[in-house]
Amino acid sequence: MFCVHSGECGGCQSIEQPYSDQLVAKQAYVVSALQVLGLPPENIFPVLPSESSVYYRNKMEFAFARKPTGELYLGLKRRGVFWDVIPLSHCYLQDPVTPYLLQFTSDYLCPSGLPAWDYRKREGVFRYLMVRQSKTTGHFLISLVVSEAQNMSFFEGYAAALVAKFPQVKSIVLTLQPTSSDTAFSTDMRVLVGEPILEEQLGALKFSISPTAFFQTNTRQAAVLYNEIVKSLNPEPEDVVMDLYCGTGTIGLYVAPYVSAVIGVEENPASIENAIQNARANGIANITFEVENVRRFLKFSKLQATKMIVDPPRDGLIPKVVRRVIERKPKTLVYVSCNLSTFIRDAKILTESGFEICGVQPVDMFPNTGHIEVVAQLRYSGVL
Ligand SMILES: C[S@@+](CC[C@H](N)C(=O)[O-])C[C@H]1O[C@@H](n2cnc3c(N)ncnc32)[C@H](O)[C@@H]1O
Repeated sequence: MFCVHSGECGGCQSIEQPYSDQLVAKQAYVVSALQVLGLPPENIFPVLPSESSVYYRNKMEFAFARKPTGELYLGLKRRGVFWDVIPLSHCYLQDPVTPYLLQFTSDYLCPSGLPAWDYRKREGVFRYLMVRQSKTTGHFLISLVVSEAQNMSFFEGYAAALVAKFPQVKSIVLTLQPTSSDTAFSTDMRVLVGEPILEEQLGALKFSISPTAFFQTNTRQAAVLYNEIVKSLNPEPEDVVMDLYCGTGTIGLYVAPYVSAVIGVEENPASIENAIQNARANGIANITFEVENVRRFLKFSKLQATKMIVDPPRDGLIPKVVRRVIERKPKTLVYVSCNLSTFIRDAKILTESGFEICGVQPVDMFPNTGHIEVVAQLRYSGVL
């Protein structure tokens, strides 16, 4: 597909390749990368495609910059260049309305004269615009990320003007992120419009998501991913399952109806607040949540489980977590990974310690990019 920004934009690297070719390339990559684990090829299943290969993301972070002429704009970072932002006239990653939200925002904020963040000098005021959209309701939640907010009434004026022009924008928050680290994440948030919550539906389950909480970015494909996780877990009614790195509790809530109990563990308190609300809203009573670092939880908690699910960030599991998982010997371990190299690193240790990889299911969560998610089923046999 042709995109006016392809070649320079860091958002989609393979948009010009037909989606069917992208899937073939991703499958070949997974098969070749996993060779090092000695898996029989028939244990690597064909990649599950995303229903839509464009406009599929429910969350994007756009960066601010100013042109030499002084004009403020929003866009994505130039491929491989963290300090350079390319203006976006169109984007195939999120809803077609998004570029209009970007244009309106930069036009409104420009006359303030406040500087855009300089990603090299690490100074400035306007940093990111995070745009989240529910694929269920179509509603938007916007977070304007700034390093300081001396004139709150200016930001309130922006929020009022944005919702007047775009009624599908239901929530706007101002996020204060004064530190030098290049992130849109901060817990210091001021609500400018509405409730800071977005509602999504996956299968029969409803989810409430707050601005900082993790939620799979391809909503429709998340349901495909979670069904695969349930299949790989092979749940039995007497099972107690640990859902480690549980975010807003989505995986655990999918699994709960099939088992005796689920324990979700996550370090972000906002995600756990959402998870508890989500369990209540869906009438699921056999799930509990712990706000805790997974390493500390596995070290100190006396709770026991028959099966475990791990869905860590791209860095994978730290060695101490791998060791604690091995000590706990779950019958089945489902490892959900968005980074094959850290998965392979961790899987090597697990297979050297009595686990066997019984199957790997690639799921394409990120069309037009090189990323691929895998769901691996490992069973503890204790036979080395
Ligand atoms: C890839 S997301 C998975 C979320 C969830 N399983 C889902 O599908 O929506 C990883 C999650 O791990 C959490 N996390 C990262 N490091 C952690 C740690 N050391 N202990 C507990 N949670 C952690 C993040 O906040 C994030 O919610």
